[in-house]
Amino acid sequence: MKIYVCENYDAMSAQAAELFSTQIKEKPDSVLGLATGSSPIGLYKALVKKYENKEISFAKIKTVNLDEYCGLTADNDQSYAYFMNQNLFSHVDIDKANTNLPDGTNPDAEAECARYDALIASLGGIDIQLLGIGVNGHIGFNEPSDTISLGTNHVALTQSTFEANARFFASIDDVPRYAYSMGCGSILNAKKIVLVANGKGKAEILEKAFFGPVTSQVPASLLRLVSDKVYIFADKEAGEIITKNHPEDVIVL
Ligand code: GLP
Repeated sequence: MKIYVCENYDAMSAQAAELFSTQIKEKPDSVLGLATGSSPIGLYKALVKKYENKEISFAKIKTVNLDEYCGLTADNDQSYAYFMNQNLFSHVDIDKANTNLPDGTNPDAEAECARYDALIASLGGIDIQLLGIGVNGHIGFNEPSDTISLGTNHVALTQSTFEANARFFASIDDVPRYAYSMGCGSILNAKKIVLVANGKGKAEILEKAFFGPVTSQVPASLLRLVSDKVYIFADKEAGEIITKNHPEDVIVL
């Protein structure tokens, strides 16, 4: 596992975006696993810039997103489908038919999870997966648990995730309680995994996930099972504790 601590959010985003642009150049029909949240927004901006500069094209790219809230339609401005259009898809030459997210409006959880797993399999798996990290160590919406969900799952959000995500909604009553999330198995199976984390609020969980025990109670710690293909990018604030306590394991850029 490579852990990079960058000067600030923009530097973190630019460094992580390099791995994605290299992937796209080397394999123009790559399957990108994508993430939402505030952490990857800068990375998407950097990729849009590279597209505008004609450095990369998304014409043959296929995407699978990590997760979607249950009950939100794609035109709801809090849905992850909406987020992806706003932050990436509308700004590049991607064929929307090649973009995929779990369908939050499908009330049949079993069918939706099976559909999404079959879809990931039909694409031949994920070439490079982008991740953020929740303050409780969740990846996608795989919450701390006694068990590990390998495939797509229907998740009841924990109180801490519910509260953390409430900041994006007009009222707490609008925050969904459930989501569909790609499973940890599909994430760990990706050929490359890139996690971005910024801000003070992520400093403790980075130490817990990458230097504490590997446990399903901290889903991001499972990335250490496949550490050879994992790249972590933190800004200075998120990286503060790990830089101080584990200087030999951190590359300060
Ligand atoms: C949400 C998403 C995760 C994301 C996390 C962190 O719960 N489902 O995929 O990583 O929030 O979000 P942020 O980057 O805004 O801190």
